[in-house]
Amino acid sequence: MSRPVITSIDDLKRLYRRRAPRMFYDYCESGAWTEQTFRENTSDFSDIRLRQRVAVDMSDRSLRSTMIGQDVAMPVALAPVGLTGMQRADGEIKAARAAEKFGVPFTLSTMSICSIEDVAEHTSAPFWFQLYTMKDQDYLRRLIERARAANCSALVITLDLQILGQRHKDLKNGLSAPPKLTPKTLADLATRWSWGLEMLGTKRRGFGNIVGHVTDVGDPASLMSWTAEQFDPRLDWSKIAQIKEMWGGKVILKGVLDPEDAKMAAKMGCDAIVVSNHGGRQLDGALSSIRMLDPILQAVGGQTEVYLDSGIRSGQDVLKALAMGADGTMIGRAFVYGLGALGEAGVTAALEVIAKEMDTSMALCGKRDIRDVSRDILMVPEDFSGRWQAP
Ligand SMILES: Cc1cc2nc3c(=O)[nH]c(=O)nc-3n(C[C@H](O)[C@H](O)[C@H](O)COP(=O)(O)O)c2cc1C
Repeated sequence: MSRPVITSIDDLKRLYRRRAPRMFYDYCESGAWTEQTFRENTSDFSDIRLRQRVAVDMSDRSLRSTMIGQDVAMPVALAPVGLTGMQRADGEIKAARAAEKFGVPFTLSTMSICSIEDVAEHTSAPFWFQLYTMKDQDYLRRLIERARAANCSALVITLDLQILGQRHKDLKNGLSAPPKLTPKTLADLATRWSWGLEMLGTKRRGFGNIVGHVTDVGDPASLMSWTAEQFDPRLDWSKIAQIKEMWGGKVILKGVLDPEDAKMAAKMGCDAIVVSNHGGRQLDGALSSIRMLDPILQAVGGQTEVYLDSGIRSGQDVLKALAMGADGTMIGRAFVYGLGALGEAGVTAALEVIAKEMDTSMALCGKRDIRDVSRDILMVPEDFSGRWQAP
């Protein structure tokens, strides 16, 4: 079968939709409640326009940059995405390998299918590990030790999911890993045979960082059960400081969407924050990440690196975030579409599409080095962030 021509992230999404079981497509392609924040994360990027410049030397362009001091081929990291190994067999390993070959960071979720050890064994570049804080302190400590033993180069602590936002489709579909075999899922899987064949060929079908490492959980296949029973709803700044100390290495705080919280995060001495609303999956009605970026950058005043995720579907979106002042970005769904569509090659295709779009747009805005882009390549509506600022 010849590979389809991929020219955009949307191409990958269409293929992904055909190939992945409905339950996992829905899990990825949904936001909390009305999905307002999920939609606006993407649509708000189109309110920002680019300034076309001409008669500027466009040779020798570079997208290279650094994130937390690491050299990157472009400032785009793969975000932590739970259940990636259900989108495609061994999905985390495939995505991590694509990221490594491309030269961008990969972040492994606590809620991954492939375990920390498994990903470490199948890659050679150190990856980042995303931590959800758990009630069980022993388990939390062991998770951190496992990430250290696997040579992870940063701990990404996610702050916006102590309790799970409601996505209607997951409840209606009975989301679980592996899927429970009901008449509805069987009918769907019958049309997704290549997914099923690959899945039969792997042993990695449960939550690899958790199953076998903790006891006393109602339903070990259910994300909802894990979250409700294990995640620590009492997480606060003092606990974050303890975890930071326990880890002792680079720390990225993910899920910051308010200037006050950003100031706290910077004061703690973290290496970076990720301006994020979890891709619109948690607090529906929150503003998009791109609208909150400017007030957060002002609050932080250069004390820590500031990354942005939520809503990025193109290289132009990345360029806009960087030109607004972000030091880097993360992509979630954009790489999952690629993985579900074409496996490792699809993640590479997603990264290539983003790089190409970023490079061409940067050049047409009159810039040759991604580290030189700034606000002057953008046309931003006057009230883009201001109209919404909290008192
Ligand atoms: C299917 C899915 C699962 C996710 N799982 C996690 C997770 O386990 N840990 C985490 O910190 N963020 C998780 N996120 C949030 C992403 O890390 C990231 O913030 C979000 O995807 C960015 O938005 P985008 O998908 O529009 O790029 C998940 C996102 C999606 C779409």
